[in-house]
Amino acid sequence: MFASSTLTGSKPEQYAQLLEQARALVHGEADRIANAANLSALLYHALPDLNWVGFYLFDGKELVVGPFQGLPACVRIPLDKGVCGAAARLRTTQRIDDVDAFPGHIACDSASRSELVIPLVHGETLVGVLDIDSPRLARFDAEDQAGLEAIARVFLDALR
Ligand code: SME
Repeated sequence: MFASSTLTGSKPEQYAQLLEQARALVHGEADRIANAANLSALLYHALPDLNWVGFYLFDGKELVVGPFQGLPACVRIPLDKGVCGAAARLRTTQRIDDVDAFPGHIACDSASRSELVIPLVHGETLVGVLDIDSPRLARFDAEDQAGLEAIARVFLDALR
């Protein structure tokens, strides 16, 4: 049984604890759906001020919604659309303080105000993106980005 433990200390210290929990969750498991589901649940319940956490998986043409926590979301996102599409196309993390100021932002949940999208690239292959939404403007800073990128790497490292 998973026992959630409260994160303590500075933000980098909290992310270090969360990273250990993420590693433990995927340990010995290479199934991407299983790991995406458990990591979504871990992040959604561990971090404050989030309304959506989940994975979009690349099907060779566009992003298709995968395991997530939050309200039902848009199913398919072309690479030339939205914050998720930009992260996947440019292969760089998109940290958006105000989604309403991002041209082409796709509003799946009207509560979202800021968003962090991390591309998931395994070798040279685009696997998908990890998308994290907050109802608070500028919810994510550089420490959140670094902490969540490390957790995205845990997901990638677990893939065979
Ligand atoms: N806002 C995203 C779409 C996905 S939802 O946030 C779950 C985007 O603009 O790509």
